[in-house]
Amino acid sequence: MDLTLLEGLAKGNLTPGTYDYYAGGADDELTLADNVAAWQRMRLRPRVLRDVSDVDTATTVLGTPVSMPVLVAPTAYHKLAHPEGEIATARAAAGADTLMIASTLATTSLEDIAASIAAPRWFQLYVHRDQGMTESLIERAVGAGYEAIVLTVDLAVLGHRPRDERNAFSIEGHEMANLQTGTPDSEGSGLAAYADSAIDPGLTFEHIEWISSLSGLPVLVKGIVRGDDASAAVDAGAAGIMVSNHGGRQLDTCLATADALEEVAAAVAGRAEVYVDGGVRRGTDVVKALALGARAVLVGRPILWGLAVDGASGVADVLEFFRAATVRAMALCGASSVDEVDRSLVA
Ligand code: GLV
Repeated sequence: MDLTLLEGLAKGNLTPGTYDYYAGGADDELTLADNVAAWQRMRLRPRVLRDVSDVDTATTVLGTPVSMPVLVAPTAYHKLAHPEGEIATARAAAGADTLMIASTLATTSLEDIAASIAAPRWFQLYVHRDQGMTESLIERAVGAGYEAIVLTVDLAVLGHRPRDERNAFSIEGHEMANLQTGTPDSEGSGLAAYADSAIDPGLTFEHIEWISSLSGLPVLVKGIVRGDDASAAVDAGAAGIMVSNHGGRQLDTCLATADALEEVAAAVAGRAEVYVDGGVRRGTDVVKALALGARAVLVGRPILWGLAVDGASGVADVLEFFRAATVRAMALCGASSVDEVDRSLVA
């Protein structure tokens, strides 16, 4: 599989507005490109003459076993990519023995996603200005058996996304099933109009503790690129830190996540698990992420391309691509298990 070709095929199956929404980033899309380029810049220092006849990619994420250190990132509006939407994605993730993080902005309700799989899942949360709405999302996620809350913290306001403004992007004909609304009619981006009116720019570290006590679930904080923020989030009760710049969709010229990871992992110093997303396209990227301190990576856009091309089976193909690529990269680095991937593998 070639992810660039896959993206081209997906583009042919999507409306131009949806393709741009998925593919695009903020402002000049510099961070979008740098997320990929930063992994590419890093050089590996492989070990040789280790017996790598059996490479095992299995690991655990907050104690949950997964087949590989590659999870499905939360992304919005899967029914724009395929009629089966999030259920197709969830089934493919479960079939690959990995974990999907369902988005607040899903086009399938969190209950319907949960009912479609007998596998662990996590729920991504946007804190809304309407506290009752946020509480209800948390309570529903608990009720539907989600095992962790992934709190997105890098969307105090929506990033400026020129493609969506130009296309007046909306999810016309679909609804945000968890919120029972569409995106508002707008001359620019309907998502920007929704985010500005509904998502709470007053989010602080105190919300971490609030969500954790209300839900009784571990809270992972997604959208951190600095060691001091990561440390403060752990002090506030975070069980996990996700190094993320929202796929380059929020603050353009934000540093690449590959470049932020090591500082964050050092600041967390084993007190919580560290994850990373943004630009992960190769098995070698997965190895680099683990070497720099990540427990696992999250993959976003490639999953959407697989979904757009062939529903659940397309997503399964993308996950199999990452599994096989991770096995190969580990073997070529002399690592038979994820525990053998250490800092010395990256120059
Ligand atoms: C939503 O989270 C988006 O980035 O569009």
